[in-house]
Amino acid sequence: MKISKRIGLGIVCILVLALAAWVVFLSVRGQENEAASSITNGEASTNLADQNSQIAQDPRTAALKAEKYFLERNLVRYQSYYDLHPDFTPTVVVRDVNANLDKTKYVDVKPADLSYGVLSLINKYNDLGEYQPEDLVDLGANYGSGHNMLRREAAEAFIKMAEAARADGLILRNISGYRSYAVQENLYASYSLRDGAALADTYSSRAGYSEHQAGLATDINSVDTDFQYTKEFGWLQEYAADYGFILRYPEGLEEITGFMYEPWHYRYVGVEPARQIVREGITFDEYYAYYVLGEKSEW
Ligand code: DAL
Ligand code: ZN
Repeated sequence: MKISKRIGLGIVCILVLALAAWVVFLSVRGQENEAASSITNGEASTNLADQNSQIAQDPRTAALKAEKYFLERNLVRYQSYYDLHPDFTPTVVVRDVNANLDKTKYVDVKPADLSYGVLSLINKYNDLGEYQPEDLVDLGANYGSGHNMLRREAAEAFIKMAEAARADGLILRNISGYRSYAVQENLYASYSLRDGAALADTYSSRAGYSEHQAGLATDINSVDTDFQYTKEFGWLQEYAADYGFILRYPEGLEEITGFMYEPWHYRYVGVEPARQIVREGITFDEYYAYYVLGEKSEW
């Protein structure tokens, strides 16, 4: 072989070796990168797990979740409300938010969902508009006077209840049942004129927001707080739920219900719900949030 040929072959060999070395180098580096990136991903997933466990271990969230009436759909609202009221207990936070106390009365309103029938909620967040029930029944002079109609199911239950009370020697009479939008509008206007709107709002619904307009509420015997000292009131405390009625605006829960104590105002909800409300010692606002709506979104 000529010298020049040998030199040429030598160069080719060197080039091949250099190429092979380069390929080996690249492949090792690739493996290192993969390893490094899997370490980084591992760190990322460890961080996520840490965050999750931090959320799970946040004692405030854990305390909220342990509450009997906790609703997952309200979690963010509970947390915001808790931020505003750090001195409140988790029980109060859950109760208040379920009753929409983090919302503004008569401002944050939606149409009342009447598909729940006698379990429909009508309050300062749930608007009836000019709704009028289709099955109003007059209770007749033996059972009341004035605005003397209720929806059929409530009217039948009222008559049964009044008969049972009568058998025990007591008289229960409806003194205000169904009131139309227009009647409520006039009532509220006259109270506002007399006492100012702020005070009127503590004892009278604005038009469109009264349970009376739904034909499901009855004022019994007297609209005087002394009614609470009568035997009839005592009887209602014991038996009203057996006929499907609840004391709708109890004493001490004015903030939750939005109204002052009204010992005379009873709301028809049906027997089982009424018994459960009494058994659990909750307002209808709370019952509705937890047992009627449950996790169905509200707003
Ligand atoms: N007094 C009750 C709250 C009403 O006006 O409906
Ligand atoms: Zn009433």
